[in-house]
Amino acid sequence: MIKRRTILGAGAMLATAAATAPRAQAQQLGVGGPQPLGERTDTPGEVYPPGTLAPRGRFGRYERLPTLELESRQNFLRSFRRYVNLSLSRSAAERANEVLRENDLPTDKPIPEAQAIELLMDEPLMQMASRAWLSAQEQTWGGLKQHYEGEMDRYLAEMEAVEDYGPVLELNPDLDIPDYARHEIHIMPGGYIGNPIAGYMYHYGTNGFYMGRNDNDEVQIRAAQRLPVPADGKVLRILDLGTSVGQFAMALKDRFPNAEVWGLDVSGPLVRYGHLLASERGIDVNFVQRLAEDTKFPDNHFDLVTSYILHHEVDPEATRKIFEEAYRITRPGGVFYPVDFPQVDAQERTAHRMYRYYMDHRWNCEPWTPLWQRCNPQQLLRQAGFSLNTEGPVVLPGYDVLNATKPV
Ligand SMILES: C[S@@+](CC[C@H](N)C(=O)[O-])C[C@H]1O[C@@H](n2cnc3c(N)ncnc32)[C@H](O)[C@@H]1O
Repeated sequence: MIKRRTILGAGAMLATAAATAPRAQAQQLGVGGPQPLGERTDTPGEVYPPGTLAPRGRFGRYERLPTLELESRQNFLRSFRRYVNLSLSRSAAERANEVLRENDLPTDKPIPEAQAIELLMDEPLMQMASRAWLSAQEQTWGGLKQHYEGEMDRYLAEMEAVEDYGPVLELNPDLDIPDYARHEIHIMPGGYIGNPIAGYMYHYGTNGFYMGRNDNDEVQIRAAQRLPVPADGKVLRILDLGTSVGQFAMALKDRFPNAEVWGLDVSGPLVRYGHLLASERGIDVNFVQRLAEDTKFPDNHFDLVTSYILHHEVDPEATRKIFEEAYRITRPGGVFYPVDFPQVDAQERTAHRMYRYYMDHRWNCEPWTPLWQRCNPQQLLRQAGFSLNTEGPVVLPGYDVLNATKPV
């Protein structure tokens, strides 16, 4: 077992009385108020009896944020994000077209990216939309950081308390982390590997990105349901690459309860939190901190290998190596399906879209997304040795079909 001080380095944290308290007990101790009034499995629409305050607890799979203050703040930011991404962004797109017309440029054909950015950069409506979007992002992380880092020892203890829970949890503090994985992707403070409680931050922060559509991992569950299976129907070993906190891996275990499921990630803090989630949910998923390009699993081992929005966050050379590694560990007839953002077709490169992609890349710390959007994953999969079924299925609406099989 790896103790939290091993991960953090000696003396990084002070021991506290809460150091061995598991999650529910920790919440009873803390600022979160009473917890829990029994396990709630209700849906978000359910009304609490008049005159009572909603207890902490959970909505189905989703454990509510630990304090009402933090929850209110995140709920506000979620609504604000929805307003920015839908209404404000639509007005900005209309204004972008006006600017193109004012400059005698076509609105129905792509223009060069640099020209689009140059034209739109100083437009007040563009600036307001970008600023509002970035502020929502900063405020989301800021609130989570304040709470979770403020209570860090307690949350580390919570993960430590379940380290003996059944399935494998393998942490490799000496893993040589590639430089490309050290960025603070989508400006998450500390990134995936630089913050020992990155799992809490990631889970609740990215949940905000889904704007209320993924409290119970609905997106990962639907994607897992749509995944193709090998032609012979055998699915007994599954590996999810870049699993983060294991939402997709757990959805795969739901769909294939008899399969041995592994979630792999470069980040120790993320798989550690994934193991905590699995223990709370009683789900039998194994977690390992390893590199997707060097998984250490035997040749031809897995029936199904997946990755869920991993590749737009790694450099293209790493994606090429990961596809080769996926080929090595997939058994003949087995399926590899990387689920990731679609490539940007030249015809879809409207000025406003180019401007937004640039803002995301530049200010939201998405160093690798533009390169992923311009690469050819089908070609890379074929080069790795896979044969492709380009007919389907689409695993996430709007995403490309990357249904790869290792030839028998
Ligand atoms: C956007 S997250 C994946 C989301 C996750 N699969 C889900 O179900 O929500 C990308 C993940 O890839 C991980 N990652 C990046 N480079 C990696 C590598 N070379 N090997 C394994 N994991 C990697 C990051 O640590 C991060 O957890």
